[in-house]
Amino acid sequence: EEKKRFVGVADTDYAEEEKRRVSHQAFQKVRQQLGMTYLPLLNGEYVDTTSFVDSVNPSNSSEVLGKVGLLSVEQAEEAMKFAKAAFPGWKQTPVKQRADILRKAAGLMEERRAELSAWVVLEVGKPVKEADAEVSEAIDFCLYYAEEMERLEKGVNYDVAGENNRYIYQPKGIAVVISPWNFPLAIACGMTVAALVSGNCTLLKPAETSSIITAKLTEILITAGIPKGVFQYVPGKGSQVGAYLVNHPDTHVIAFTGSQEVGCRIYAEAAILKPGQKHMKKVIAEMGGKNAIIIDESADLDQAVVGVVQSAFGYSGQKCSACSRVIVLNPIYDTVVERLVAATKSLNIGAAELPSTQVGPVIDENARDRILEYIEIGKKEAKLALELPAPSQGYFIGPVIFSEVPPDGVIAQQEIFGPVLSVIKAKNFQEALEIANSTNYALTGGLYSRTPSHIEQAQTDFEVGNLYINRNSTGAIVGRQPFGGFKLSGVGSKAGGPDYLLQFLEPRTITENI
Ligand code: SER
Repeated sequence: EEKKRFVGVADTDYAEEEKRRVSHQAFQKVRQQLGMTYLPLLNGEYVDTTSFVDSVNPSNSSEVLGKVGLLSVEQAEEAMKFAKAAFPGWKQTPVKQRADILRKAAGLMEERRAELSAWVVLEVGKPVKEADAEVSEAIDFCLYYAEEMERLEKGVNYDVAGENNRYIYQPKGIAVVISPWNFPLAIACGMTVAALVSGNCTLLKPAETSSIITAKLTEILITAGIPKGVFQYVPGKGSQVGAYLVNHPDTHVIAFTGSQEVGCRIYAEAAILKPGQKHMKKVIAEMGGKNAIIIDESADLDQAVVGVVQSAFGYSGQKCSACSRVIVLNPIYDTVVERLVAATKSLNIGAAELPSTQVGPVIDENARDRILEYIEIGKKEAKLALELPAPSQGYFIGPVIFSEVPPDGVIAQQEIFGPVLSVIKAKNFQEALEIANSTNYALTGGLYSRTPSHIEQAQTDFEVGNLYINRNSTGAIVGRQPFGGFKLSGVGSKAGGPDYLLQFLEPRTITENI
């Protein structure tokens, strides 16, 4: 039968005064809650911890948003026992019931949209509109994976005369989700609900810098009716709790989004069979990118310049999908550099919660220092075309553009994860593609061109998981642009796509001779 195509929810239209008022009120409400303590959730109960970390506002690092209790390794072991105990019941829970919990969670997030986006803005320094889009994405993941699991539950019949063959899926068991701070709600929610709706008991360990927003996600999942032990919120140190859960013999699936370094370590550790372990682990790791946009001489430059600036400096370049290299053909190179500089100069840099802000802070001090080091390296290997000043209160870095960047330079090869753009010159389209493909990554890529042969060639030869033609190269939408890369950008199939849930499931074939 013909299936209706998935359509996600709409973002907030801040052109409406009423929506701006609701957003403003949400910030006031959230500010009244500052300083609270958020605790891990084990087996349906919030548990005390001996160690805590402050979550601060990157736009103003003296503003403490709350305290987050960090789980000990002993408590992580308890969580694992609770998850194991809850698994048989969750596995038997009808898919419809599991899917309805996700739909309920989606509804709750829609009701709390303004408040959730205010938390995202304050906790990770993401500008308001982008934070709102992130809430939409989290909702879409719930709705999409609910539908997807209902589709997969039907299985497949391969019956022949005298023999029935059923192809069905069962959950793998225990899933450990290790989520990043840059999409603290959407990606944490997506990986978690995918694991849950597939019938796995799930432990969520967020990046430390974004633990409050995942505590909010926890509240939502509880209210939506997730049974105790089935979902547990296990904030803790990655090097302790994260590593412990990754190495645990009872872990079946690890869904990770974060740095290439950590992803590679998880992949390696998960491959080692531990005493008592009776299965091999599945690892899904979404890692980095060194994403390029190619601009050829036929491109509409008005469109290209806007698209590159958005892709490079949106959320201060802290998206794995962000453009960090622009590869421009020789004849238009100088013009493009000049226009990129002019367009970037017009960006408003400031506290993420200000409605006018287009570029907010970076996540923390470590990130700022790391990015500043790359900028110093860039000054040695390329020409500084623009360095914008930035507010001094929080962790700000003004957007930086380098031109004449050598394609094999450090700043052209390593993921910086900040507002730093390298503009590289290519003598022809073939060379542009070669430069684009010359990194270890293959996540997103973009092409601005009105030359059909270039558009066609890019589709086969531009080695990326998500290729965007004549538009910006970030902001993939669930069920429309399934998202993910290959090479050292990651392992596993695309989030928000038709193969994603399969990674949390064990297929079985049942043959009956009749
Ligand atoms: N899915 C996000 C994007 O497309 C990145 O994680 O920008």
